[in-house]
Amino acid sequence: MARFRPPYWLPHVLTLIHILLISSPVIYGQQDPAAQLIKFKSSLNNTGDLTNWDPNVPPCAGESPNWKGLICNKDGSVFGLQLQNMGLSGTIDMDTLAQITSIRTLSFINNSFEGTLPNLLKIGPLRGIFLSYNKFSGVIDGDAFKGMSSLRKVELGNNNFVGKIPISLSQLPILVDLQLQDNQFEGEIPDFEQNDLKVNFANNKLDGHIPKGLRNQDPSSFAGNDLCGKPLSNCKKTLNKKLIIIIVAASVLAVLAIIIMTLFILRTRKTRKNKNIKRQLTKPDRKNTYKTNANEIQMQTKLETYKRTDNGGKLHFLRTDRERFELEDLLRASADVLGSGSFGSSYKAMLADRPPVVVKRFKEMSNVGKEEFYAHMRLLGSLSHPNLLPLLAFYYKKDEKLLVTDFAENGSLASHLHVKRRPDEPGLDWATRLKIIKGVAQGLDHLYNELPRLSLPHGHLKSSNVLLDDEFNPLLSDYGLVPVINKEHAQHLMVAYKSPEFTQHKHTTKKTDVWCLGILILEMLTGKFPANYLEQGKGGKPDLGTWVNSVVREEWTGEVFDKDMKGTKNGEGEMLKLLKIGMRCCEWDIARRCDMREAVEKIQGLKEREDDEEYSSYASEGDGYSSRAMDDDNFSFSVTN
Ligand SMILES: *[C@@H]1O[C@H](CO)[C@@H](O)[C@H](O)[C@H]1NC(C)=O
Ligand SMILES: *[C@@H]1O[C@H](CO)[C@@H](O)[C@H](O)[C@H]1NC(C)=O
Repeated sequence: MARFRPPYWLPHVLTLIHILLISSPVIYGQQDPAAQLIKFKSSLNNTGDLTNWDPNVPPCAGESPNWKGLICNKDGSVFGLQLQNMGLSGTIDMDTLAQITSIRTLSFINNSFEGTLPNLLKIGPLRGIFLSYNKFSGVIDGDAFKGMSSLRKVELGNNNFVGKIPISLSQLPILVDLQLQDNQFEGEIPDFEQNDLKVNFANNKLDGHIPKGLRNQDPSSFAGNDLCGKPLSNCKKTLNKKLIIIIVAASVLAVLAIIIMTLFILRTRKTRKNKNIKRQLTKPDRKNTYKTNANEIQMQTKLETYKRTDNGGKLHFLRTDRERFELEDLLRASADVLGSGSFGSSYKAMLADRPPVVVKRFKEMSNVGKEEFYAHMRLLGSLSHPNLLPLLAFYYKKDEKLLVTDFAENGSLASHLHVKRRPDEPGLDWATRLKIIKGVAQGLDHLYNELPRLSLPHGHLKSSNVLLDDEFNPLLSDYGLVPVINKEHAQHLMVAYKSPEFTQHKHTTKKTDVWCLGILILEMLTGKFPANYLEQGKGGKPDLGTWVNSVVREEWTGEVFDKDMKGTKNGEGEMLKLLKIGMRCCEWDIARRCDMREAVEKIQGLKEREDDEEYSSYASEGDGYSSRAMDDDNFSFSVTN
């Protein structure tokens, strides 16, 4: 069998094919670049600089271009266009350029191109795109750079681009240079994480945090925006718009839930009443339990109206010993809703670098003139006593006021007395309760001395207005407000107006606050919540009086004291003394009720434990302290019907 021998001409044919493959673009699947470039040029305007683009001359002679504005490869193919500073306009025909498959870079810097970003995806392997100093505009699609894994440099500066920075830019794996400065890009910067990237985002409308991956950039790259975080200054705590919408929606739901719950509670209360349950123990929720973002934003949105409606309005500071802050700081601060009291909501605002403050909104203060209101606030602001919660500042608007006070670390006395504790959490012991009532008395005494012209120096004394600092020292709050609260509202809600003299005879006296003190004392000793703080008794009969009666008449045994009160050993005598003081303060008949001076002095005279002599006298009675106290002193306590 004859062996196969290749024909002698075969190598020559192969060589020829090889030559053709290398030199002919058509065989490479590429159109004649000269023709494509001429076609590209035809869609441009003002091409005076491109007159040497001659279809009869090859664009490239090896590495050196024959035509102006070209960058050539060694093999004579076109690597890129560099048409800068030529005043060009018209259309950048990407479809035609895409036919020149060797193109890797396009620069049209400093021309007059308009319209949206050309479709760069048509030239997938592009390594650089330079469009700075033109008049490009419009939003760039988020995917405009998607998958362009060879792209290293993108320069779009000094145009009129708007909208977000396209996220696909942040996903380019080897991007090293990104210039977007002097446009109108807005919103947040996507998370760029490329290692050797250098960016310039200056002078846009960007906002929010600078992403982690860009912390090492030069700060000037972010100038002229509304950005924060490294390398710029720290971000203040504000919530972005999306979050605000979510939170507002959440608060609407929360409010609905609260309304439904309130209706439910009101209904159950009614039923209870009908069943004639004697002591209804409606207990206030412990403050600070509502800690949701929804509440946080409530203050911001509500207080926002202050900013808008009262331009230039500011907080009036009443104390020189405190660091000032602006309304804006309050608005920016994160806040918890503490609760809604008789007058309106109150918030705890966490300001940067200073202790938190409480902001209370008052709507029912509209009947007082501005001058009068300012004067009264200055008077209250001038009060200074360890047992008065200082009024720091106020904000005046015709139909609404804000009062700013310190925040008390331990919440209110009411919450400690009435809110269910965890099993491991002890109730207030006797020593603490005594310390609290002594402090309350001293605070009241100070109010009586400093506000002699007011008939109700406090006016709203109740356990939820006795706040406790970190060492359980009491701080009276909401004092001295009677002159500025609308009368009708005051009479409806303030504790002083639940007194027998007001419910029966429509007047109050200097002894009315004493009556409130008496209720507070009984409440502290028994741990029972005077539920009827909240409601006016039927037919003018004050339910608080009934409550007092029930506490004293029906439970007048050793059991009267709060079972959660520990540390009472050897203190029972003093506790009884306090009980008696409380009852004297609650005397129905004003003439027989002790006055504030007397009450304060008696309270100050109390001790935690009987001293030996006194104690032994009680002990020797044998029969127990309660019966002795009953007979002792022959005090009278009556509730008129
Ligand atoms: C932009 O191009 C024009 C010519 O069209 C030139 O006069 C001008 O100096 C260029 N500007 C920059 C910043 O290069
Ligand atoms: C060039 O500009 C003229 C008027 O300025 C316009 O009518 C024409 O359409 C433009 N040509 C191109 C190719 O954009």
